[in-house]
Amino acid sequence: MRAPVSSVTVRVPAKVNLHLSVGPLRADGYHDLTTVFQAVGLYDELTARRADALSLVVQGETAGGVPTGPDNLAVQAVHTLAEHAGVAPHVSLLLHKGIPVAGGCAGGSADAAAALVACDVLWGLGMGKDELAALAARLGSDVPFALHGGTALGTGRGEQLTPVLAHGSYTWVLAVSEAGLSTPAVYRELDRLREEGPLRVQRTPDDVLQALRKGSAAALGAALANDLQSAATSLRPELRRLLVAGVQLGALGGLVSGSGPTVAFLATDTGHGEALAAALVADGLCAAAHLADGPVAGARVVRSS
Ligand code: C5P
Repeated sequence: MRAPVSSVTVRVPAKVNLHLSVGPLRADGYHDLTTVFQAVGLYDELTARRADALSLVVQGETAGGVPTGPDNLAVQAVHTLAEHAGVAPHVSLLLHKGIPVAGGCAGGSADAAAALVACDVLWGLGMGKDELAALAARLGSDVPFALHGGTALGTGRGEQLTPVLAHGSYTWVLAVSEAGLSTPAVYRELDRLREEGPLRVQRTPDDVLQALRKGSAAALGAALANDLQSAATSLRPELRRLLVAGVQLGALGGLVSGSGPTVAFLATDTGHGEALAAALVADGLCAAAHLADGPVAGARVVRSS
């Protein structure tokens, strides 16, 4: 057991899926995935303080639309960890949002991961990585990766992670839409499209993994692929214009991030990324565009007292 502290702040990144292939619908309502996650430098920050009851305040650029009740994934994470450890779920949470909400960047999952890390330290539990990862997987398919960070291959629902050999740092432009998309709705749309049309041959992540091993941004840009993109663009046709515009503006590649509607473009360098972001916003193609380098570390304590 480590010495307990009274306040812990954890920083946790957004993710993009560099590759995402989706298998058929399973009996449990999920789909088997093969995905390559990369954690990128757009962050939420969660501060957990000792308190007599559980409370949550949400602040920041993307705070609107974040549930503050029992649906909030950070709140669910507090309950899950407290129950597992046999302690009272008493903590006051202050969540500063920087990650788009319902955007396909795993913002809610990031907050769950941050709450696990923060409360583990706050309550002096000293849990191991594997124990936290098992709790994370119960909270959502993307939560284990938010703990892990870096670049990783995800299988199963996305919760089974294998680190991948990745060289280089990549400059992403995350083009954010005004309104989010519901992840289950995007998966349902993919199932519907597949019932309508001919079954496509499953893609493998090999090209993405090879590009990462080489550290080649050009090869990575060309290899980006996401099965959920057709479903997200079916629900939001305007994303097609955004995807085309980004490539015309010199992006090495672009794709819908996870279930969208955020679109991730790979820029050649920071200067190009800034110009690309400014042009996409000026042309009214997205509500905002953020630069984020990847890969970065997963949920980490940045302050405690
Ligand atoms: O795991 P998580 O709670 O983030 O998943 C949200 C929803 O996304 C699931 O209820 C399911 O509809 C869909 N999903 C899926 N297959 C996955 C992951 C998520 O169908 N592998």
